[in-house]
Amino acid sequence: MLEVKHGQVLILNQQECKKLIREEEVPQLMEDVLRDFSNGEVINPLKTHMPFYSQYNSYLNAMPCWLKNRNVAGIKWAGSGEDNPRTIGFPQSVATLILNDPETTLPLAFMDSTYIMALRTGAVAAVMAKYCCKKDTRVMTIIGAGVQGTSAFRMVMLTMPEIEEVRVVDINPQATQNLIAQGQKLYPHLKFVAEQNLQVALKGSHLVIPAAHSAGSSGAGILDDLELDPGTTIVGISGGLSLAKVRQRCDRSILDYIKCFVYRINATRDYMKELYGLEVAEVDESVADCEIGDVIAGKAPGRLSDTEIVHAAGVGMGIEDVIVANVIYHRALEQEIGIVVDIIN
Ligand SMILES: NC(=O)c1ccc[n+]([C@@H]2O[C@H](COP(=O)([O-])OP(=O)(O)OC[C@H]3O[C@@H](n4cnc5c(N)ncnc54)[C@H](O)[C@@H]3O)[C@@H](O)[C@H]2O)c1
Repeated sequence: MLEVKHGQVLILNQQECKKLIREEEVPQLMEDVLRDFSNGEVINPLKTHMPFYSQYNSYLNAMPCWLKNRNVAGIKWAGSGEDNPRTIGFPQSVATLILNDPETTLPLAFMDSTYIMALRTGAVAAVMAKYCCKKDTRVMTIIGAGVQGTSAFRMVMLTMPEIEEVRVVDINPQATQNLIAQGQKLYPHLKFVAEQNLQVALKGSHLVIPAAHSAGSSGAGILDDLELDPGTTIVGISGGLSLAKVRQRCDRSILDYIKCFVYRINATRDYMKELYGLEVAEVDESVADCEIGDVIAGKAPGRLSDTEIVHAAGVGMGIEDVIVANVIYHRALEQEIGIVVDIIN
């Protein structure tokens, strides 16, 4: 058993984190922590958004939290470098994370959170799908077969094993092929369709997961002008319906954390105005009917009928990353994985 003494931290890299958590475990962790949030058992302050526009096409978000019931605090430091895949061959979304002892505030661990972020983003989407989809949901469309889209596909297959057909839409045919090849290996019984035409993919799709890049300053979404079948559930990771269209076109709107979503969207709006003179409408809490934690806790419905069009989306919360990081940390100590370093000495 490794020991982390006061003033020391355990350092865990991405490959070590990967060894210490199984993806099948993550949807349940997300359900637990989102229910805890609804019940006031965890504290998740608003994230702080720090953009580097217009000098760089990037931003960082500080996402602290306290899991009171698990006696751990932490902060995810989440970056988005839009040019990374092209310029340095790294993903757009990258993150690190620090775990702290709530009593002493001393750090316990410093670790990669890029892998954790992909796991938890897909898992939250999969939990939202499970609680919001109509009965007999069989056909899922993934838009954007990158890191988050692929994770969402894999996680939905865990929360909704009844899915029979997966349609994949990506402007990069290689990304589509990669997801399908991975999916066929894991789930040979599934029907996979590579579809270029988004409208064709939407017809007959019960669950739609947009995970392409957001439209940026224009505010438009790739689903805005397309037809949606009654009963469709859209679980938005990025770039699907624009905010104005969610309220116009969907019967029900569900978020992970309404206050944080409003803050985050308005923060971008303020920067866009300041830097580029763009006038974008301010968002308020009427943007959603309820939070997914309330649905999981049985305090609000995920949908009211099989014909409603439901939109669910997550702004992302530190609790989702820290609960996974805490599991990884304890297993790393038990299995003696990682390096312990004197940091406050
Ligand atoms: N909601 C959250 O908690 C959360 C967390 C992490 C990332 N994200 C967001 O998710 C998005 C995707 O991130 P990623 O890490 O998967 O990136 P990625 O680069 O790995 O994947 C994006 C994929 O979308 C495809 N794509 C781009 N435009 C498209 C379009 N118009 N139609 C179809 N496909 C399109 C790309 O070809 C690529 O394959 C980013 O915008 C990121 O900010 C959200």
